[in-house]
Amino acid sequence: MTSRAQTILITGVTRRVGAHLAEHLLAAGHRVIGTYRRETDALRALIEQGLIALPLDLLERERLAEFAQQVADQTDRLDLIVHNASIWHRDEDVAAKPELATAMYTVHVTSPIELTEHLQRALPARERDDGHADRQAIFLTDAHIDEGEADHIHYIASKAAIENSIRSLALRYAPHTRVNAIAPGLLMFHPEDNAEYRRHRLKRRLLPFEPGPGVVSQTVDYLMACPLINQAVIRLDTGRRWES
Ligand SMILES: NC(=O)c1ccc[n+]([C@@H]2O[C@H](COP(=O)([O-])OP(=O)(O)OC[C@H]3O[C@@H](n4cnc5c(N)ncnc54)[C@H](OP(=O)(O)O)[C@@H]3O)[C@@H](O)[C@H]2O)c1
Repeated sequence: MTSRAQTILITGVTRRVGAHLAEHLLAAGHRVIGTYRRETDALRALIEQGLIALPLDLLERERLAEFAQQVADQTDRLDLIVHNASIWHRDEDVAAKPELATAMYTVHVTSPIELTEHLQRALPARERDDGHADRQAIFLTDAHIDEGEADHIHYIASKAAIENSIRSLALRYAPHTRVNAIAPGLLMFHPEDNAEYRRHRLKRRLLPFEPGPGVVSQTVDYLMACPLINQAVIRLDTGRRWES
């Protein structure tokens, strides 16, 4: 962990991974700005712990410049952006509502790229004399990109697109900003997942346990602490690529 308190923006802190990461970084003494659409108990608890909560719907691309300015109004520096917000639709849902494919692409690819750019304009990361990056952007992708997922083609395609984009973004933003990705496999089950489904998923992993969201926080700590890592994808998949 870096010693100086950092200012961090996380998209989608209302539940699960985003909420856990925000709580972890607040407890470590960092200043955390988190975005939400819905007000949840988890969000209210984070606000009590010091979270600066800002509303953001990534489907509203025309509002991203205004949102970046709201972030700039809160802070004079931004050390880390975690693009966590996500939607996960099956292909059968997309077949019934074709606009969901566009929505996944907007939430996972277009808006995060544009938001990173708007933040650079509103609150520029600067080239430093010591050659270190002044800022880092981390994108949450998905370990299933490598193996494919037969019933989530649109979701996986959008995650693959943003995972690929980290290389171009790192080229554009060097040397002031590093750009990395964390690609989790299964992190946490949904409450409605039954015992048979849980057993099936776990037995296909090299390390058959449900890790929970803490492994993402550990990886974010590592990426913050190690200043050399850039254009990297860290897979959190227990080493087995064909887990499904
Ligand atoms: N959990 C896993 O096992 C797993 C596995 C592989 C990859 N991942 C990746 O890890 C990240 C976190 O996963 P998760 O399971 O915690 O996700 P999640 O439970 O689906 O939470 C997603 C977050 O994104 C926000 N969000 C959704 N649509 C949005 C929009 N249009 N604008 C702004 N925010 C929006 C939600 O906010 P609201 O509640 O306000 O809508 C919520 O806070 C995601 O990028 C996911 O793809 C997770």
